Amino acid sequence: MKHFYKLSSALMLSAALTVSGISGVAAKNFKIAVGDSGGSSQEATGLGFKKALEELSGGKHTATLFLNGQLGSEQDTVNEAAIGTLDMSLLAINNVTPFSPTVGVFTLPYVILSLEDAEKLTQGPIGQELTENTINDAGVRIIAWTYTGFRVLTNSKKPVKSVADLEGLVIRVPKNEIMIDTYKSWGISPTPMAWSETFAGLQTKVVDGQDNPYTTINAMKFYEVQKYVTNIRYIFSIEPLIISEQVFQELSAADQEIILEAGKAATAASAAFLREKEAEIKNILIEKGMEISDPENNEAEFIELATTAVWPKFYESIGGVEKLNAVLAEIGRDPVSE
Ligand code: MLT
Repeated sequence: MKHFYKLSSALMLSAALTVSGISGVAAKNFKIAVGDSGGSSQEATGLGFKKALEELSGGKHTATLFLNGQLGSEQDTVNEAAIGTLDMSLLAINNVTPFSPTVGVFTLPYVILSLEDAEKLTQGPIGQELTENTINDAGVRIIAWTYTGFRVLTNSKKPVKSVADLEGLVIRVPKNEIMIDTYKSWGISPTPMAWSETFAGLQTKVVDGQDNPYTTINAMKFYEVQKYVTNIRYIFSIEPLIISEQVFQELSAADQEIILEAGKAATAASAAFLREKEAEIKNILIEKGMEISDPENNEAEFIELATTAVWPKFYESIGGVEKLNAVLAEIGRDPVSE
């Protein structure tokens, strides 16, 4: 079931809270670390959150976005939010996984096959369970979901059409075991590197390539340092907005409600951004000189190697094969056996 946010009902909630006199006291400007640059899906989520927060709180609360990793690497922001020195962060789910392994189910290659799958999973009981897990494991609460699109491979050296073509390329990956092992299943050993260092790594040719969705590649201006794009589409990138659980618990019940409602508005803004902009952004990348191609056999070779080698290796960390099967069932796919 899609979870569409209705601004009218949220405004009624705000009015009811104000009338009942239970809205929180201190006005707050929430500081949000954002891993990506302006024009990104993450920014669309952040701006959607800020707008709804201001409306729902009657202008009492606002938020400031610190784009492009200004507040540190994405993984560092999880630690800072956990101890309450940072209010919020917008970051890729793969950079939350090291702190809360069960969210790794969203990073397993070739599990989520569409935006609709991503919406169903994040906005249903599975998303709720993972939200609770991140509170317990990492001290952060997911309040919104960014849908950034499929991660595709870019590199500066040569067209890649097959798994064999990867040979000789140095590919940057996030510090995420699932993604590292996925490249290993394709026969190369990737280079783990923080997101905030990736552009420089590509520019100085410490690494030849990386993977991220079109919208991220464009926002980060990777077309300046990368030429070839291969639609390996191995992960649908989900990028949550997290709030420090400590900061959340310091808010009044009314303000907590406003934050959660603003989060739903932000999720809706993110989905709208992807639906409206992804095709246009793909064309911008072509205009900027990138060569985009599909792998031979529609990714079949990439899918076979990655799912066979990587899925079973992470059953334990995601909470058992039954967790993967619950995800697959939710999106109408067949279960796997152990
Ligand atoms: C990564 O590659 O580390 C992330 O996908 C970066 C991002 O937040 O876009």
